[in-house]
Amino acid sequence: MLLACLLRRIAPKQPPMSKTTPGQITPLFVTEIYRADMTARAGFEDFIEELDDTCRAIADEDEAGQNWSQQKAYLGYTSYASLNDLPERAPIFADLKAWLDGHVAAFAETLEYDLHGRKLKMDSMWINVLEHLGTHSGHIHPHSVISGTFYVAIPDGASSLRFEDPRLAMMMNAPLRKPSARQDHQAFQSVAPQPGTVLLWESWLRHEVPINLSEDVRISVSFNYA
Ligand SMILES: [Fe+2]
Repeated sequence: MLLACLLRRIAPKQPPMSKTTPGQITPLFVTEIYRADMTARAGFEDFIEELDDTCRAIADEDEAGQNWSQQKAYLGYTSYASLNDLPERAPIFADLKAWLDGHVAAFAETLEYDLHGRKLKMDSMWINVLEHLGTHSGHIHPHSVISGTFYVAIPDGASSLRFEDPRLAMMMNAPLRKPSARQDHQAFQSVAPQPGTVLLWESWLRHEVPINLSEDVRISVSFNYA
């Protein structure tokens, strides 16, 4: 006992542990969201006004769409199940489609899809007019490759679009991230669009439109490419 005490006293002090230099981080399996803005395009103000008017006019006339929205408890109007010909129905949608085609091609390029020389094609496009307190719960867009939304009317308080980490169901015992954590470490990401914004994502990525707190309607045009 005495010897042990003596040895401890005379043993040289251990140098303090040097601070760990963090290792290298490699981001893998990255989820990418594409955003572009039409506002700088010549004639944007006229374009968005005409698109807004056309969306409202169709929402007023399309009884099948109104009934479907009501049956599905969608607070507002969507042409999702009633109209499949918007670009043929009104030239403003054909113009929008042409602009979107370019952005979807650019995103597919960024994602480095091997499309064997072929191009992704729009296979559906629909109007959403979301009323005050309306919402659209979490969902994916099956049978599509790239999905997206173009924003027409975003009044004050209008919902953002909220994306969910696709690995969420696998996280089991993973601790929650700090509220101050980096954007790419958060399990949910809200993106606030403006009129003229387009957001694109891979169709398997779950997303939702949280409750719309604006007094005025929030208008958007959604679409799928396959
Ligand atoms: Fe969606």
